[in-house]
Amino acid sequence: MVGGMLLHCKSLRRFEHSGGWIKALLEEAENERMHLMTFLELSQPKWYERALVFAVQGLFFNAYFVAYVLSPKLAHRIVGYLEEEAVNSYTEFLVDLEKGVFENRPAPAIAIDYWRLPPDSTLIDVVTVIRADEAHHRDLNHFASDIQCQGYELKEYPAPIGYH
Ligand SMILES: [Fe+2]
Ligand SMILES: [Fe+2]
Repeated sequence: MVGGMLLHCKSLRRFEHSGGWIKALLEEAENERMHLMTFLELSQPKWYERALVFAVQGLFFNAYFVAYVLSPKLAHRIVGYLEEEAVNSYTEFLVDLEKGVFENRPAPAIAIDYWRLPPDSTLIDVVTVIRADEAHHRDLNHFASDIQCQGYELKEYPAPIGYH
């Protein structure tokens, strides 16, 4: 959302195209929000978990905004590594679901709708597609950083399309 917003402002300011990066980054933000909406249907967060998100959002959004203004290549690199960690965490979660540590419940309706899953899908199917999303986010953000580390602007390399 921060990157998409800043590139949106830059596009307006400079009267130039973004190479599809605004749409790609805003879609990534929307996709992440759908991960939250999906997990919200599976468990209701406690008050202290909500408070944590509130505090982290207040700090992280602003810190990330400053980081993106100062160094977009660093900002994308950080997200690339965070997404890699997300892939690892979801892999561990899948192992636990398969072992029965956590109950493999039916997929929430919102997830079946959003990812167009078969009606009899389970939590394992949902976590598998979410992990694939995170792998796309990882690749996209490392790619965005690589482009700029090599001295090019994002708009010189069109954003990969057709992903969440
Ligand atoms: Fe996510
Ligand atoms: Fe992600």
